[in-house]
Amino acid sequence: MPAIVILGAQWGDEGKGKATDLLAQQQGDDSIDFVVRTSGGHNAGHTIVVNGEKFATHLLPSGILTPGATSVIGNGVVVSPEALFRELDELVARGVEIGPDQLVVSANAHVIASYHSTIDKVTERFLGKNQIGTTGRGIGPAYADKINRVGVRIADLFDEGILRQKVDAALDQRNHLLAKVYNRRAIEVDAVVEELLAYVDRLRPMVRDTSLLLNTALDEGKTVLFEGAQATMLDVDHGTYPFVTSSNPVAGGVCVGAGIGPTRIDRVIGVIKAYTTRVGSGPFPTELFDADGEELQRIGGEVGVSTGRTRRCGWYDAVVARYATRVNGLTDYFLTKLDVLDSWDRIPVCVAYEIDGVRHDEMPMTQTEFHHAKPVYEFFDGWKTDISGCRSFEDLPENAQIYVQALEQMSGTRIWGVGVGPGREQTIVVHDD
Ligand code: GDP
Ligand code: IMO
Ligand code: MG
Repeated sequence: MPAIVILGAQWGDEGKGKATDLLAQQQGDDSIDFVVRTSGGHNAGHTIVVNGEKFATHLLPSGILTPGATSVIGNGVVVSPEALFRELDELVARGVEIGPDQLVVSANAHVIASYHSTIDKVTERFLGKNQIGTTGRGIGPAYADKINRVGVRIADLFDEGILRQKVDAALDQRNHLLAKVYNRRAIEVDAVVEELLAYVDRLRPMVRDTSLLLNTALDEGKTVLFEGAQATMLDVDHGTYPFVTSSNPVAGGVCVGAGIGPTRIDRVIGVIKAYTTRVGSGPFPTELFDADGEELQRIGGEVGVSTGRTRRCGWYDAVVARYATRVNGLTDYFLTKLDVLDSWDRIPVCVAYEIDGVRHDEMPMTQTEFHHAKPVYEFFDGWKTDISGCRSFEDLPENAQIYVQALEQMSGTRIWGVGVGPGREQTIVVHDD
């Protein structure tokens, strides 16, 4: 299985970091060759727990913790050099060994400079009650520059003349907006050029043609894991627009963001929680505003890894799961955090929506309908047992088995693995292949 995509099937924070780390380990240290990020930036927060020790990655692929694997930041990622080196230095300070060839950055990836996060924050403030609830990391403004064709790419950092021209072009538009609409001070071209040039010497040895690197690796039969960030329902095309991120975290985005063709991909694993969470604004049909929601938040430790914000919580939504199966062509699900449901007597699962009196078994066509969606629940008996020590499907209490089998049946593809705790080893692999 040389090219495997791992992605989020809900609104993020499903456990993609753990799933990536697990697969990297499962294949054996010698056989995972590359772990690749293809979209988003340091808005992601992926948690990996190794021998009880917790690590979080943001811009770096989780593969940075797998000895022998090369981590790749693909062309589709937006890269803040400041965030990149801060994260690397923090990991090294914690004793993680990172070899000189262990991280590769695409020459075509777009750069996030400090003005992008300034614009992200002022735009949000300007939106007032309509704000998206972004991470404030400059992700949207950097992708906007890319689409507007005024972005700065990593390769531009190596030619000061070109860099100055590009920053000048980008700020020309932005400064009008900042001064005239947002009543802010204009940003100086020189200051931005200086800020970015400070990283050039450290960055230079990492920069490669990553499309060539990855295609050659696949030709040679090497194993490549594509580590999704964000999630299907945050996708700018397929998510709950405009309450989304500014990239394509769906499976199709992997091809664009890595420079590989769709025929290369062998397996697409959707990571999905046994319930649902969301950070930031936007519709969320199964959201709970009662004691159950608070309990899911408390037991699941649902606090954002990047921004420290409390995550909104609700029950499993099989309509979202079926949609994610469809738009990503999923081959498998990895169902995480089943252990969080250990204490409930009865567990509701949303099987369809009722919208203006009509039942919808599939995602409605329009956002307006989605905003009006009321969940139709089916109820499952709880197992009321601590399952964190279970290591095989047969170890699970009968009601937990029934719950997992029901979700599999409703969600459109097989459940390959089940998470029963944050640790690498707290996993049940249901299918061996
Ligand atoms: P990501 O952004 O998709 O990588 O997910 P996050 O790391 O933001 O959030 C997932 C959280 O759930 C992290 O704190 C993980 O350590 C934790 N986690 C992952 N899988 C499991 C699981 O099966 N059970 C429990 N209890 N926690 C899990
Ligand atoms: P991981 O990879 C959860 C959300 C933000 C906001 C919206 C837009 O850890 O699952 P942005 O800063 O991207 O412009 O914010 O997207 N968001 C995430 N929510 N997990 C993430 O990443 C997210 N990345 C962005 O909260 O609602
Ligand atoms: Mg996260």
